[in-house]
Amino acid sequence: MNHEPSAIDLSVDLNGIEMRNPVTVASGTFGYGQEYADIVDLEKLGAIVVKGVSLEPWDGNQTPRMVEVPGGLLNAIGLQNPGVDGFAETYMPFLRKHDVPVIVNVWGKSVDEYAEASARLSDVEGVDGLEVNISCPNIKEGGIAFGTDEKMAAEVISAVRKSTKLPMIPKLSPNVTDISIFAHIAEEEGADAISLINTLPGMAIDIETRKPVLANVVGGLSGPAIHPVAVKMVWQAAQAVKIPIIGMGGITDAATAIEFIIAGATAVAVGTANFTDPATCLNVVVGIEEYLLRHGMKSVAELVGTLEV
Ligand SMILES: Cc1cc2nc3c(=O)[nH]c(=O)nc-3n(C[C@H](O)[C@H](O)[C@H](O)COP(=O)(O)O)c2cc1C
Repeated sequence: MNHEPSAIDLSVDLNGIEMRNPVTVASGTFGYGQEYADIVDLEKLGAIVVKGVSLEPWDGNQTPRMVEVPGGLLNAIGLQNPGVDGFAETYMPFLRKHDVPVIVNVWGKSVDEYAEASARLSDVEGVDGLEVNISCPNIKEGGIAFGTDEKMAAEVISAVRKSTKLPMIPKLSPNVTDISIFAHIAEEEGADAISLINTLPGMAIDIETRKPVLANVVGGLSGPAIHPVAVKMVWQAAQAVKIPIIGMGGITDAATAIEFIIAGATAVAVGTANFTDPATCLNVVVGIEEYLLRHGMKSVAELVGTLEV
């Protein structure tokens, strides 16, 4: 694959995951990479973060489980996935052929399941890092408690840490009073980086039937509506930890991505925008480079955490 040489150094290192540029995709919005390969040159991404994987296959929630709302999307997919073995057999052969780091988003219904799934994924050739989803608001058991409870968050991150030598990236829940506490817990328990934010809880009602639009009643809000919330949380987290941060939430273009970098994110992830314009990720890469040129900077690292207050 031919990558045009550039005067600007866009590369970033997430404590062991070397990305050619700071732009990746948000878990669950880019399938397992393969689904987008015809329209997006995967090797131009900084990394691919795949949809959440659990120890055993999981059906997810009943439909309808996605609805467009003003400013974004409500989803209650419920973490449908083929399980560790299904993922490794079905999707990794394709991903291994590409020169791009693969980060697997992992979740479980208990601490043991998180640890076991992480251990098993660590043995899969071609997996470069684990993003640990401690923040999904859709599953009634397990998940919800981890990301919003200090003790549970520490316990699950610590267990995953012991189960893998791969770079480990807890993905924080925004549904907490003080995100910096959870960022700090992740760092203390041995995380190599953190990512944030996951979706915020929301609900939509069909006023004619007076029924909830989603079969699950409630879902997770993503897209432009959550961007300012996410920028604020990344900024707070960046002040609490030294490890790199992947910022996400409502990125639609280079400007909305650059806000995260200025707030303190080393890398950014594009989520919901992949559904409306699959070219967003690559446009963001080009836009970041143009911005750095315009501001006389030689590397993206120079921009990280440069907010002036
Ligand atoms: C349809 C859908 C599925 C998602 N699935 C996952 C998932 O499996 N694991 C996870 O950690 N986050 C998941 N997320 C959350 C996103 O990765 C991201 O954190 C969130 O959508 C905010 O970014 P955005 O506003 O750019 O979409 C999902 C989001 C959407 C919209």
